[in-house]
Amino acid sequence: MKLAIGNDHVAVDMKNEIMQYLKEKGHEVINVGTDTPDRFNYPVSGYKVAKLVAEGKVDGGVLICGTGVGISLAANKVHGIRACVCSDPYTAKLSKQHNNTNIIAFGARVIGVELAKMIVDEWLNAEFEGGRHSERVAMINEIDATQHLKAAEE
Ligand code: RB5
Repeated sequence: MKLAIGNDHVAVDMKNEIMQYLKEKGHEVINVGTDTPDRFNYPVSGYKVAKLVAEGKVDGGVLICGTGVGISLAANKVHGIRACVCSDPYTAKLSKQHNNTNIIAFGARVIGVELAKMIVDEWLNAEFEGGRHSERVAMINEIDATQHLKAAEE
C-alpha cells in the first residue's frame, strides 16, 4: 500500500520506527511530519496527511503526536476523513471494519512502539465490512458534507 505518515516534535522517534516497520513490510511511505525535536504544531502534519488521503494520493494515513488526539482532530476537519485515535489493536481493527477509517492515530506518550506496530498491523489488515455499516458511515459523510443529518429530523 501507499501510505502517508505525519507527526509532531514529541513523536519523531516513534514515527521513524513505524515508518521503518511499514517499509520493511513492503509499503511505500510518504513522510510529511517533522524530523527534528523543535516545537512543531501538529495540525500541520495532520492536515497534510489528511489532504493526501482525501485526494486519493495515498491509500491511508498514520498520525502520531503526544496523545494522538490533536493530530487526529485536525485531520478529521478535512472533508472525507475518518481518523481514529486509539491505543489498542481491537479498536484499530473495528475502526476499519465498522467505521471505514482512512487514518489511524496514536500517542507516542501513551503507548509503546511494539503496541503501535500491532495497532498499525490490525488496522492495515482489516477490511470495511460494508452492509449495515455502510448506512452509518454514509450518515457520517452526510454530516461532513452538509453539516446536516436528515435522519436526525425523524
Ligand atoms: C504537544 O505538547 C502535545 O500537545 C501534542 O503532541 C499532542 O499530544 C496534542 O494532542
